[in-house]
This record gives sequence, C-alpha cells and structure tokens, in this order.
Amino acid sequence: MINSQLQEIGEHLKGLDEIESLKVLSELFPGKVVFSTSFGLEDQAITDLIFSNNIDINVFTLDTGRMFSETYYTWNQTNERYHTKVKAYYPQQEALETYVFKNGPNAFYESAELRKQCCFIRKVEPLSRALEGNQVWITGMRAEQSPDRHDLPQLEWDESNHIYKFHPLLHWDFASVKKHIADYNVPYNPLHDKGYVSIGCQPCTRAIREGEDFRAGRWWWEDNSKKECGLHVHATIPAEQN
Ligand code: ADX
Ligand code: SF4
Repeated sequence: MINSQLQEIGEHLKGLDEIESLKVLSELFPGKVVFSTSFGLEDQAITDLIFSNNIDINVFTLDTGRMFSETYYTWNQTNERYHTKVKAYYPQQEALETYVFKNGPNAFYESAELRKQCCFIRKVEPLSRALEGNQVWITGMRAEQSPDRHDLPQLEWDESNHIYKFHPLLHWDFASVKKHIADYNVPYNPLHDKGYVSIGCQPCTRAIREGEDFRAGRWWWEDNSKKECGLHVHATIPAEQN
C-alpha cells in the first residue's frame, strides 16, 4: 500500500527540480507539508526556496533549550528577512525537569544511553508532536554528510512517525549549498565561518578540522556507531528510484 503510494508520488516528482518538487508536494498535500529547520546552512537554503517562492509549507524548529546563541540569532534574522515566524516546539516540561534533576545538566557526556535520553526528551518527542496530522516532512539532509546518508532515498516513508519524508537537497554538494546562500544573500549561522559544519546543540557540537567528516563535530566523544539522535531513523521504505 505505502509502496504503491510512494511510487505514485515519485511519478509526480519525476524530473522536477527542488522548487518544483516542493510546489508539487504542497499541492498534492495542501496544508500538510512541514519543514523542520535547525537553521544550518542546508536548512537556510530550503527556507529560502520556500519563502522566496511562496510555497505553502509550514516551517518549524525543535528548540532543545541548549542551542548556540548564534542559532537563536539566525532564527531571528530569518524571521525578519522573510517576514515570517518559524514555529518552535519545546520539550515536555515534566520529563525534562525529572531528567535534569535525576542526572544533572550535562549527563549526555556520561553515557550514550543518557545522551540518547536527552535527545529523546529534547528532540524526538517534540518532533512527533510537530509532525502530527501532517503528511510530508521536508528535511535538509544530504547524501554527502555521512556514510549513513549516502544511500538515502529522496522520498521515503517514515514508519515511526507515519509520514512521507522528502529531502530536496539530497544530491547537492556542500559548494552548491554555500553558493545558494551567497547568491541569494540568505542569512546564515555565523558559526559556519568558524569551522562549524553540522550544528546541533551547543554542548554536543564542535568545529571540525580540515579533512574531518561533516558530522565529526557532533557527539565527538562517542564512537561512530552510536552517533545519531533518533530524529532520523532508517527503518523506512524508499520510493522506487527514478
Ligand atoms: S541530526 O539527526 O544529526 O540532529 P542534522 O543536524 O544532520 O540531524 O540535521 C538533519 C535535518 O534534521 C535538518 O536538515 C533538519 O531538517 C532536521 N533537524 C535537525 N535538528 C533539528 C532541530 N533542532 N529542529 C528542527 N529540525 C532539525
Ligand atoms: Fe541533549 Fe546534546 Fe541531544 Fe541536544 S544534542 S538534545 S543537548 S544530548
């Protein structure tokens, strides 16, 4: 069932560029397409595509409460530039209070288990509320970002959130993202000029060194197999590639 629906949507998107694809999805699922932004470079490029082309897609962010001040600055710049208000989802108050009281404010450094619990409370649970009632979730993921993302299909079904997922910039390289930001004078997180590539929460993100993987600066103290936050689970059904 899901497979045939994915194929049908895939047919509508065949041969379209990013802007056309986002438009078509917003027409196929009116009012039910959402884009999640962390205000990173890729996300800023997508935000620009959406607002500059008046595409009917709602933009939200998951405010973990531990983001860099530069990220809040970028959020504000984005609201001003596009005369918009990006909607924020927050962790459940009780769950967060209990977790921090029990484990302390920086428990994520102690074990992968405690780190994942923090990510669950601050990101994964709020994400499920943000996606509720929607049919398509747009993300800024790119194949080049990590070996895990190399084979990601552009359109997929996310079984855990029961939603189609679409990654418009999947095949863009980093230079193309930077070029879009520069060409259209899109506001961006000033940390990108200081060696930060993939930007998440402040205590869990560092700048990367020349030659390091794009995501080497995320949860750098953990071994690679544990480095995911649970937002993007890969138990998904891909659409037939065209
Ligand atoms: S993560 O899984 O490691 O956190 P990453 O930072 O690479 O993901 O971002 C991939 C995509 O996930 C982003 O393009 C964005 O769509 C979404 N995303 C990540 N963090 C957030 C956030 N705090 N709020 C909203 N969306 C986010
Ligand atoms: Fe918590 Fe770090 Fe995950 Fe942010 S990235 S939710 S601070 S563990």
